[in-house]
Formats: sequence, C-alpha cells, structure tokens
Amino acid sequence: MSQNCCVLLAAGKGTRMKTATSKVLTKVVFKPMLERTINSTLNLTKDICVITGHKSEEVEKFIDGRYETALQSELLGTGHAVMQAESFIKKHSGANVLILNGDAPLMDSNTLSNALSDHINNNRAATVISAKIDNPFGYGRIVRGDDNNVKCIVEEKAATDEQKKINEINSGAYWFNCDDLLFALNILANSSKYAPDGNKKEYYLTDAIEILLENGKIAGAFTADNPDVVLGANDRVQLLDLNNIVRFNILNNLMLDGVSIPCTDGVIIEDEVIIGADTEILPNTIIRGKTVIGSGCVIGPNTTIDNSEIGNNTELNNVKCNQSKISDNVTVGPFVNIRPGSVIDNNAHVGNFVEIKNSNIGYGSKVPHLSYIGDTDMGSGCNVGGGSITVNYDGTHKHRTTIGNDVFIGCNTKIVAPVTLENHCFTAAGSTITEDVPEDSLAIARARQTNKEGWYKK
Ligand code: UD1
Ligand code: CA
Repeated sequence: MSQNCCVLLAAGKGTRMKTATSKVLTKVVFKPMLERTINSTLNLTKDICVITGHKSEEVEKFIDGRYETALQSELLGTGHAVMQAESFIKKHSGANVLILNGDAPLMDSNTLSNALSDHINNNRAATVISAKIDNPFGYGRIVRGDDNNVKCIVEEKAATDEQKKINEINSGAYWFNCDDLLFALNILANSSKYAPDGNKKEYYLTDAIEILLENGKIAGAFTADNPDVVLGANDRVQLLDLNNIVRFNILNNLMLDGVSIPCTDGVIIEDEVIIGADTEILPNTIIRGKTVIGSGCVIGPNTTIDNSEIGNNTELNNVKCNQSKISDNVTVGPFVNIRPGSVIDNNAHVGNFVEIKNSNIGYGSKVPHLSYIGDTDMGSGCNVGGGSITVNYDGTHKHRTTIGNDVFIGCNTKIVAPVTLENHCFTAAGSTITEDVPEDSLAIARARQTNKEGWYKK
C-alpha cells in the first residue's frame, strides 16, 4: 500500500499581512510560518507537496528542493490550490493525504496524528480538524445537523446570522482518503454549484466535505483538545498573538525543566535551544539556533546568543555571542562582542568593552578592558592590559597572533601580526610589538621619554 502524504497550501497572497515577501514566510519566533507547518508533519510523513503561487520563487527558494512543489498560477482558492496536486495525490492512491494551510503554524503533530487515528477508526473519507474558540470571526464554521454529524462548512462571508454564532471552526487542516479527495475535486471543478461566481470568486476546499457527504461518503470533524493549534495569522496583529503563544510555550517548557526566568520581558528563545537546570535567564535576552547552555549560568540582561555552546556556571552580562564556545566558570561582560569562531576556555574572564573574533582564549586568561583580540591563539594564565589590540589586518590579508602561557601584556600594547609572544614574556605598556618576543623576556617597543626642563617658563 502506498504511504500517507501531505499537501501544504502556500500560494495565497496574504493581502492583510502587507508584506513584500510571501505571507507563509513571515516569521513566528524566528522561523517562517511555513517551516513550522512543515515541522508539524514530519513525524507523520515526509512526502510533502507544497503549492506555490504568489511569490512562488521565494517559496521555492525556501523549500530548496527538499519537497515536491506544484505551481498554482491563478489564485482561485483553496480547492483550486489542492487541484494542482492532483498527480501527486494520485501517486498515493489507497492512502490518506493531510491538507494543511501554510499560515497556521501552531498545528502540532499530536493533534495531526490523533486526527488520523480518528479518521481511520471511523472509516471516513474526510476528517476536518476543528476547534472551539472564543472568537470565531473570519473562520469557516462547522455546521452540524440534528444528529450532530457534520453537514458542511460555511465561510464567514456566506454564513447566516445564526451560523455566525457557531464557535466550532475549521482549522484548515484535514485528512482525506486520497481517492475520495480526487473524486470530490473532480466534482468541485466541474459542477456549476461549486464554481466561482459573483459572490464567491474561489473554489473552496471546504465544499469537498459537502460533496463527499452528498455522495454517501462518511465525513466528520476531529475537535482539537487545545484550541490554540488551529490559530492562523492573516495580519501582523494576529502574528503577534502567535508569537506570544509560541514564545511562552518554549519559556514554560524551559521553566518546568528547571531554568529560572524571573521576568520574561524581552526574553525570546528559539525552539531548539537547550538550557540546563539552575541557569537563570534575565530580561532582554535572545537565544537562537542550535545553542546549548549548561547549568548554573546567569545569562543576561541584554544578551544575544546565536548558535553557540556555553558551559556550566558561566556568566554573560550584556554580551553578544555568535557561533562561539564559552566553557565553564567564565565571566563575560558587560558590553562584550564575541564573534564567530571564538573559544573561551574554563575560568577565563572577558571584561567590559572587549571584542573577541576567531580567537582562542586559554584557561584562566583575562582580557578585562577595552581590547580587540582577533585571529589570536592565547594560552593559559595570560593577562591583557586595558586598551591592548591585536593588529590582524594589513589592508589585504588577515594574520594570526600567537601568545603562549602566562604572558603579561602591558596596557595599550599593539601586537602586529603575524607575531609570536612566547611563554612568560612581558610587553611594556604602550609598546608596538612587530617582532617575536622570546620566552621569559620583556619587550619594550616605544619611544623613550624626554623631559624638557623649564619648557613652560620659556
Ligand atoms: C480557510 C478556510 C476556512 C478556515 C481557515 C482556517 C477555505 C475556503 N476556507 O480560510 O474555512 O477556517 O482557512 O485558517 O478553505 N491558498 C492557496 N491558494 C489560494 C488561496 C489560498 O494556496 O488560491 C493558501 C494560502 O496561502 C493559505 C491557505 O491556503 O496558506 C488558506 O488560505 P486563506 O485565504 O488564508 O483562507 P482563509 O480565508 O483563512
Ligand atoms: Ca488564513
């Protein structure tokens, strides 16, 4: 038997979102809505066909060949969108197809798989996922007959005053038997009853339910336990609602796993981030990508971490850290920029107004104030005086600086790379180091001071 599959509707224009890009690519907690929708299906099927239309090249670029796509060249509604996947659905004859709206990113795989079981157990041709929500305005309403079975779905525009009071709505997610759906699409496409006219300018997928029922098939609704999963975003105000729901789902899960967030103001954490127990996250902290943070840390306030690895008992205060690794018992901040490719070893300290780029800072080394350390390999136990800078760029090429263990760099030293400072050496404050400094020595590279006595009086 063929496998279940999924058709994702992503062709719509999304006029109300007022975006120059595709509506389904607008983001909820840093991820395009379409990506969230795709993620919700991956436990059930990886055999997906995405319907593209408005800004199809952008959606194609996002899909990047990972899934099949079909172009809806004229936007004639959700029913018409699914018609574009006819040959894809035919390939899955005998199995079930999940239809999802690309603008409903809160749908979760639990709801989808429970709906599939309900669909199969009741031997249905179609199962629409519904939910009871407080404000059903704008959604299609599930109309049930006296026997409580689903009769049809009526859109806001076509609903009578009585029907507008129904608070059970269509999520836009359905399981169909593939063959029954193809049968219904054929009638939808060819019957004058369902064709676009002066009132409705589109082919409604929702009419497929009525068509199946009229032809003696079984169709019904599966009501989601959590009404949030059906929410969609048509404009930016609804987008904020979705952001808040996803954001707090993530924060709540972290708190239940032992992470302290005493105030959630400005705290946004992306789904994949892993944080150990007893770590505290302070306000205005944004943590993104495949970041892993250990336990007992204090992160924030005002800290941004992207795709980085932070050890245990480390403190980051007013730090921007991107694609880097900071180990255990490290203190960083305030006002520090850790740029890609940096590795800060255990017990190190990086203090105020310091920039570190593509550099290794060894065990227990300190860069406490106002420094730029770029393209540098620094050993353990070093101390970098305030204002010191590695001069890594000659205008054409970048060069590396090598600093051994227990090196003491005097304040305001300029270290012109490529150059090596060997173990236990010192540089005098204000030096411009252009030559290697041998082990155990003191390098002085500055003009000797002369005092002109009585100069003021002259
Ligand atoms: C649709 C449903 C409504 C349901 C709601 C749930 C219909 C007729 N109505 O309404 O019952 O309550 O979703 O959110 O199905 N799309 C295309 N091609 C088109 C038109 C739309 O691919 O020609 C895509 C859109 O990109 C979007 C999805 O289909 O991802 C839904 O379209 P939208 O216009 O937002 O439908 P709603 O009016 O929200
Ligand atoms: Ca919608």
